[in-house]
Amino acid sequence: MKSHLLELSYLVGSVTFILGLKLMGNPRTARRGNLIGAAGMVIAILGTIFLYEKPISGIVVGLIFAALALGTAIGWLTAKRVQMTQMPELVSMFNGMGGACAALIGLIEYPNYLGNPAALLAILAGVVIGSISFSGSIVAFLKLNGTLDRPLRLPYYNFINTVELIGVLALTFWLWQAGPAPCPLLYLLLAASLLYGVLFTLPIGGADMPVVISLLNSFTGLAAAFGGFLYHNYAMLTGGILVGSAGMLLTLAMCKAMNRSLVSVVFGAFGASSKTTVAAASQGQGAVKDIQPSDLAVLLNYSQRVVIVPGYGLAVAQAQHVIHELETLLESRGVQVKYAIHPVAGRMPGHMNVLLAEANVDYGKLVEMEEINPEFERTDVVLVVGANDVVNPAAKNDPGSPIYGMPILEVDRARRIIVNKRSMNAGYAGIDNQIFYHPNCSMFFGDAKKALAELVSELKSLT
Ligand code: TAP
Repeated sequence: MKSHLLELSYLVGSVTFILGLKLMGNPRTARRGNLIGAAGMVIAILGTIFLYEKPISGIVVGLIFAALALGTAIGWLTAKRVQMTQMPELVSMFNGMGGACAALIGLIEYPNYLGNPAALLAILAGVVIGSISFSGSIVAFLKLNGTLDRPLRLPYYNFINTVELIGVLALTFWLWQAGPAPCPLLYLLLAASLLYGVLFTLPIGGADMPVVISLLNSFTGLAAAFGGFLYHNYAMLTGGILVGSAGMLLTLAMCKAMNRSLVSVVFGAFGASSKTTVAAASQGQGAVKDIQPSDLAVLLNYSQRVVIVPGYGLAVAQAQHVIHELETLLESRGVQVKYAIHPVAGRMPGHMNVLLAEANVDYGKLVEMEEINPEFERTDVVLVVGANDVVNPAAKNDPGSPIYGMPILEVDRARRIIVNKRSMNAGYAGIDNQIFYHPNCSMFFGDAKKALAELVSELKSLT
């Protein structure tokens, strides 16, 4: 009876994970999806503690609940305090913890399954993948929070990394077939895997980290799935498979949206070229016009259709509330306002959607790139706020550009283009942007939050 109930709790857990993931596919239902998935996780955890075939002693149950309370408190507080722009850091830290858990399970269970080749393989895979994911995620975290501020490339790092990986795989094979006695080389495998995680992540450019974190996330999912296989825990198995496959799909989707191969992200070719292109960007390509807040307020006030293009700078400046204020003010004066959302605007998937949702912007106003591009022709003013690469025509026109082929928001089709940023500096790709020199474009210089606040007050002063 107990075992049936346990299986039922795993089934409920698995179904809620799938349902939750499905609901997270849409901003309107994402919050509900998250809660449903979390509820399923609670059911699966409680089922494991109370319905497991071998009873667990009271002391152990006490320890488990103490650990759960501590972990919940830390997770809750961290998630409450984190800024939206620090989200990739948080994900990377949580992901690292998942990898460490999978590796620890492997270390503890190794001596218990020596005579069982299938279980042993799952254990060793958990140790290797979990450790790589743990150390790689910690390096990613340090890069994103600025502690490690540049890619660190050892001479011949690709060669060294490949040799290291071959060593890890060879040692795994050796341990797998070594025989029934526990082997201390397991700790060498742990150390070598941790080192590989560091070597793998160190050379990658900081801004490529969201892609790598998603890849490491999928590794953690895989490691957890091996744990589920080992314990016949179907909730853990399903959860691991879902994390693994969703992480991999997300990784590939990000690469596709940036028109870059996973290989070029992982082997760090992008960061290598950025120094020279930044220099070229700062030299500029001709004269640019600028516009003052008072003139821009008049221009917007007498427009019929305005499209706002939010980008990374909007997130950094935390200007989501003031942009919403601008939007409602314009709408109250009969101007139609929409937001154009590029799939890789910002620094993480869905960054702009989350940011604008925080400011209660209506989801109906957020328009995907494919849908908004044909609308630019009928747009009076495009207001680009802290975005750069996602509107750079070099992606369409310049085969030599590192972003060539990346689909962009075609803002040059609009009647007027206004770009808000602080300077002529390049964005993430480190390249100049011809759109700034377009005859219909004017630069609205300044920090997004301050500049937009000034614009809003100018608009309010217009009768
Ligand atoms: P970027 O091309 O990075 O440009 C952001 C611009 O914001 C910069 O040029 C900067 O210019 C400006 N800025 C910074 N702080 C500002 C502030 N306080 N106020 C106003 N402007 C400010 O951003 P994007 O157009 O959103 O493109 C995203 C890039 O990130 C793409 O190249 C994409 O491939 C890459 N990427 C995205 C992801 C995901 S999943 N979203 C993951 C990895 C990489 P100033 O310094 O002159 O102000």
